[in-house]
Amino acid sequence: MSVTSSDSASHSGALEGSSAALEGSNAQRGLWSSRLAFILAATGSAVGLGNIWKFPYVTGENGGGAFVLVYLLCIAVVGIPIMMAEVMIGRRGGRSPVKSLSLIAERDRLNPAWKLVGAIGILAGFLILSFYSVIGGWAISYVGTTASGQLTGQTADAVGAIFSGLLSDPTTLLAWHTLFMALVMVVVVRGVRSGLERAVSILMPALFVLLLIVVGYAMTTGHFGQAVAFLFQPDFSKLTTSGILVALGHAFFTLSLGMAVMMAYGSYLPKNISIAKTSMTVSVIDTGVALLAGLAIFPIVFANGLEPGAGPGLIFQTLPLAFGQMPMGSLFGTLFFVLLIFAAWTSGISLLEPIVEWLEERKGMNRTVSTLGAGIVCWALGIASILSLNLWADFAPLGFVPMLEGKTIFDLLDFFTANIMLPLGGLLVALFAGWVMSREAMEKELALSPGMFNLWLITVRFITPVAVAIVFIYNLM
Ligand code: PFF
Repeated sequence: MSVTSSDSASHSGALEGSSAALEGSNAQRGLWSSRLAFILAATGSAVGLGNIWKFPYVTGENGGGAFVLVYLLCIAVVGIPIMMAEVMIGRRGGRSPVKSLSLIAERDRLNPAWKLVGAIGILAGFLILSFYSVIGGWAISYVGTTASGQLTGQTADAVGAIFSGLLSDPTTLLAWHTLFMALVMVVVVRGVRSGLERAVSILMPALFVLLLIVVGYAMTTGHFGQAVAFLFQPDFSKLTTSGILVALGHAFFTLSLGMAVMMAYGSYLPKNISIAKTSMTVSVIDTGVALLAGLAIFPIVFANGLEPGAGPGLIFQTLPLAFGQMPMGSLFGTLFFVLLIFAAWTSGISLLEPIVEWLEERKGMNRTVSTLGAGIVCWALGIASILSLNLWADFAPLGFVPMLEGKTIFDLLDFFTANIMLPLGGLLVALFAGWVMSREAMEKELALSPGMFNLWLITVRFITPVAVAIVFIYNLM
């Protein structure tokens, strides 16, 4: 029962505008086979480069414990309620994010412009995938680098030179970016049940096991205690205002929120499954993986006298150095980067899925054509990000705007998606659920006790929008 073009395309017209669309559309589309399948897929989306690459480096840059505490608070207060809202909207509409929002708007006689929330999300996901795939390509490249033993016994300078050598070589970057995008497309083209679900049910547990192996190694370095203290002993003197805002923004990115992904996945969620419990499970697993990644990385960093605040290069420059020095480093290093590819792959799949779903429905394309079309355009856009790392490194197309001075195309894509589109999408989702959507419909979908429902409603009405608005305004300033 995979989602095929004929399933969704042929039904979308017939069901349009009728209330049956809201209740019955899932029946024709193919659903997740179980709650576990949805959790696997949503976790596959949430756990990615954000957890293993970004979380350790932003934690390192922001001084550790206190930042981690704020990040955990953001997950609980902002992340989980918005995830519940996104999954709820997706399941209520039962279609692609844009279609779901317009069906709900039509049925509840709301302003049809709300469907733009889905459109912003789809566009953001598409733009993110273009450079996410390039970074996924770095991870692929490092499997070869570590496996071949080139890192063994290398100095920091030599390891740094390997990384800058990769960034300066557009042909190699293009090859790995192409491979990453092809991997994503191969899964998406096969549809939700036969492709994605099967892939994540193998990839996610494998990822856990691989991460535990690296943590197991990290425990033997003699610096595990120092890493635990760094991550979990808050030192509030190290927490800055910008650190708080980075923590909030990262909570969005890491849970795949504000980009319609959870709406798209929620549309395949059977009606009898608890949205609150599933959202909570996904968030807890995602947070657990980020913390495990921290526990895997920081002992190695400390044991080798490396710098926790080294920035985005942390795992690609600092860790390979550590892997080059440790016994069996080639093996552990290879495993680590394989793990990173798995994580990035399942996230990449979730970034492509919403746009493919939308093309199928809206343009009546079949899944193969829509996947190829969206994937190839996204791949082509990724070339601009690749060139930004080398030949176009000095090209700042919007450099005349003071805030965007010196930003390459890669930087701009990252800036506009993470700092503008993502908080905007999240804010609008919170406003839609908190203030616009009918209470009755939400009560029915969420099926919470009255007390829990009110707690959730107050959060999405007041707490989430204010918190998100602060990040949004801060980023614009
Ligand atoms: N959550 C993913 C990560 O942490 O790497 C990235 C991501 C995937 C963001 C899908 C947004 C998204 F829609």
